[in-house]
Amino acid sequence: MSTNLTDMTEWHALGKLYGAMKKRNLRELFSADPQRGPCFSMEAEGLFLDYSKNMIDADCMKSLVALAEARGLKQAIDDMFSGKKINKTENRAVLHTALRNRANKPVIADGKDVMPEINAVLEKMAGFCKRVRSGEWRGYTGKKIRYVVNIGIGGSDLGPVMAYEALKSYSDRDISVRFVSNVDATHFAEQTHGLDPAETLFIVASKTFTTQETMANAETGRAWLLNVLKDQAAVAKHFVAVSTNEAEVRKFGIDTANMFGFWDWVGGRYSLTSAIGLPLMIAIGPENFNKMLDGFYAMDRHFAEAPFDRNMPVLLALLGIWYNNFYGADTHAVLPYDQYMSRFSAYLQQMDMESNGKCNDKAGNRVNYQTGPIIWGEPGTNGQHAFYQLIHQGTKLIPADFIGFVKSQNPISDHHDKLMSNFFAQTEALAFGKTKAEVEAEGNSPELVPFKVFEGNKPTNSIMAEKLDPAMLGKLIALYEHKVFVQGVIWDVYSFDQWGVQLGKVLANKILPELSAQAEPVLKHDSSTNNLISRYRKSRT
Ligand code: F6P
Repeated sequence: MSTNLTDMTEWHALGKLYGAMKKRNLRELFSADPQRGPCFSMEAEGLFLDYSKNMIDADCMKSLVALAEARGLKQAIDDMFSGKKINKTENRAVLHTALRNRANKPVIADGKDVMPEINAVLEKMAGFCKRVRSGEWRGYTGKKIRYVVNIGIGGSDLGPVMAYEALKSYSDRDISVRFVSNVDATHFAEQTHGLDPAETLFIVASKTFTTQETMANAETGRAWLLNVLKDQAAVAKHFVAVSTNEAEVRKFGIDTANMFGFWDWVGGRYSLTSAIGLPLMIAIGPENFNKMLDGFYAMDRHFAEAPFDRNMPVLLALLGIWYNNFYGADTHAVLPYDQYMSRFSAYLQQMDMESNGKCNDKAGNRVNYQTGPIIWGEPGTNGQHAFYQLIHQGTKLIPADFIGFVKSQNPISDHHDKLMSNFFAQTEALAFGKTKAEVEAEGNSPELVPFKVFEGNKPTNSIMAEKLDPAMLGKLIALYEHKVFVQGVIWDVYSFDQWGVQLGKVLANKILPELSAQAEPVLKHDSSTNNLISRYRKSRT
């Protein structure tokens, strides 16, 4: 990319529009146009997006779209889908979209069609899941598997955990799926507490099969199993692996016949639709898993084909850039009004922050603009009784996505209308606030008036769909994946590497022997780190 983002004509045009827009407010924008709600709304693949409660007008949207075009977004999308090595710092293609390429059209990476291998792994997964779910696959002592424990971290954990929670109502309740990620032994101990090893299947999920946390938990899992079953042969019946690293899987002692592979062109945080989805497939069954893939695919097609001004991931990305780069918003909240989506924001944190948390452009130069925002959120209505105060009346601008569903999966009494009344009320309150005159008209004492005023003008997107089902979950995830991709293209950062996580890992490996050494080690860190380590060593004896 030749021109720096902030030198672009389109960027300057947006700067001017921002200058004018920051003096306006949503009350005024809505009263100037009675059709504003429907006008700034769109529907795609069963998802309805209302983005009218944003600080934008038609000119802003046009200019944002012009920026995307000028940044070469169309070409970038084609490059990703067609298997070009766009992850240059790792010299890899980025082909998570091939994993759910339901049309099965050839996708070429390194001169080879990747679809036959993808289909073969999906088939192998489905066969295995059917055997576990039906009870045909038995543990070493002949017992049926009732517990599946996925051991993985980051992308090998967050997607499956989130999706398992999201699709719990579609899961086989006779099999309980647990997730162990943290190297803190508490996680392993609590997640396996009360489980019978003879009824437990471990899935060791790691792209590299070298990640410290995962390998430590896998070793502990094996010891926990053998402590009861007392025979190495039991491992083959209770351990399977998901990885790209066959040699390490074999070294660990897992039969590679029970290994489910994927490929270096699947990024960890984009791997849910690869074999990393195995615990989910065991829980919800291959048919529902395939429906989820269909959903992903539908959103992939929408993203690849829709014009930018009617393209949902593109619009969300551009609105994010508007607030991040012009309004100076540091964070972005994702607030699903569905308890099943309780882990969605945590999942998006890795997807977004590990992708676009970069400070150098693709030429290796430090950028002179903001890149990836801080992503956070909790399901409504819980968040309302915790942090919404700051969104409503704090000093920070926090753009937010509200996600809601028309139909509840647990339609008990009027809970769902109550939930959704809050969903609608919050974006209304955030947008329009409450003026001084309105507070005074309520008869409040003059001293109280300032505290009861709501400025409004807090931007939100409302994303609504009929029901959270496997296909809809796939669509929602793909929506955010592509949003993140678009922002990475505009910010000119490499969205598919994660060098920033390396340094800490290297240092931890250096410190570990210093903690375990019998003799007092000579510490060569800074005075703070030395002191902390010495204190730790002294206090534990
Ligand atoms: O530390 C970051 C990271 O490399 C993530 O990108 C990845 O999802 C996670 O670690 C786990 O890696 P692996 O699947 O290789 O164990």
